[in-house]
Amino acid sequence: MRETVISRTSKGDVEIIIDKGIDTGAEILKKHKPCHVLIVSDDSVYALYGDKTKTSLEAAGFMVDTFVFPHGEESKNIDTLNSILEYAASKEMSRTDLFVALGGGVVGDITGFASAVFLRGVDYVQVPTTVLAAVDSSVGGKTAVDLNAGKNLIGAFHQPLEVLLDVDVFDTLPDEIFTEGLAEAIKYGMIKDKKLYDLFKDNDIDSLDMIPVCKRCIEIKADVVEKDEFDNGERRLLNFGHTPGHAVEILSKFGISHGHAVAIGMVIMTRLSERTGEIPQGSTDEFIEVLKKYNLPTECGYNNKELTAHSKVDKKRKGSKIGLVMLHSIGKAYVKETNVDDIERLYAIGLNM
Ligand SMILES: NC(=O)c1ccc[n+]([C@@H]2O[C@H](COP(=O)([O-])OP(=O)(O)OC[C@H]3O[C@@H](n4cnc5c(N)ncnc54)[C@H](O)[C@@H]3O)[C@@H](O)[C@H]2O)c1
Repeated sequence: MRETVISRTSKGDVEIIIDKGIDTGAEILKKHKPCHVLIVSDDSVYALYGDKTKTSLEAAGFMVDTFVFPHGEESKNIDTLNSILEYAASKEMSRTDLFVALGGGVVGDITGFASAVFLRGVDYVQVPTTVLAAVDSSVGGKTAVDLNAGKNLIGAFHQPLEVLLDVDVFDTLPDEIFTEGLAEAIKYGMIKDKKLYDLFKDNDIDSLDMIPVCKRCIEIKADVVEKDEFDNGERRLLNFGHTPGHAVEILSKFGISHGHAVAIGMVIMTRLSERTGEIPQGSTDEFIEVLKKYNLPTECGYNNKELTAHSKVDKKRKGSKIGLVMLHSIGKAYVKETNVDDIERLYAIGLNM
């Protein structure tokens, strides 16, 4: 069943449509008059959904050009950004034209940034094709590319015209990438909504209906963004599991993917919340069982000293303090300002040591 979520932003309402079999061209035509469209995608996604999207846009009366770059985070850089901008300029695209981001978070972030700066800003539509892009990166208007010095170091806040999420695209996702996104989806349940957590608890990877799951995750993300569009407070809750998770990612030399590292990080923070008496005994064991149903890892071989070394250089650190996201209960998180020197002790509690 078709669902719609509205993300209320300082630039107006952004509609997020969640459905199966979305006709991209017909849908965009409801929001934008026929114009010149640049579809930006990566090679893997374009091979699967490029022709269909292009045909649909052309059938709706749009003139379409495409820019396709190699898949992967390595492409999320200034060179690719520059190539997209040069290509759009060479095609004489104007300020009233439109970019369409067809892909995962990498495509969404770079296309969003390109549209934020091309001719000082053109409209763009997000067409997310990974679970992570669907429930997280396509909503909220954060766009970026990486620098050699680090991830997402340049970017802009630029809200899309709309987001078109066709959950059928999840069928072609490799398992690892599908479950990575599910970790972020489960995170929303843990930090904001016990009912969503229960949905994961009562289902498994085969029975999960992605339309209601995505709808609820997007509602939560949209709500957090509405309260904190420019990332000064409430958005920090979205980092649940991310501080230890980021350390796991680095220690594994990125052999453990982001979403999987976040799952491990969430277990650490849940156990810490349980052992400090905030959530009932047994909550962590139950949470681990939930993660296992979605083929997510729940522990790593690193000790508290190793994890701490990396958390100390976490970019979220402010002076001697770092905000650790803890749980008041399942479905209710808060940020605990923690002295960096105390993290090693807290991780020892959170790890199964
Ligand atoms: N802007 C934000 O608020 C925000 C939030 C979270 C993450 N991010 C960013 O998102 C990026 C990660 O996004 P991601 O996990 O979607 O990675 P991704 O875009 O690299 O996609 C992962 C892989 O899946 C492939 N793929 C995508 N859709 C597919 C489909 N339907 N079928 C088959 N293969 C498909 C891609 O080609 C790619 O190889 C990071 O750069 C991260 O910084 C941004």
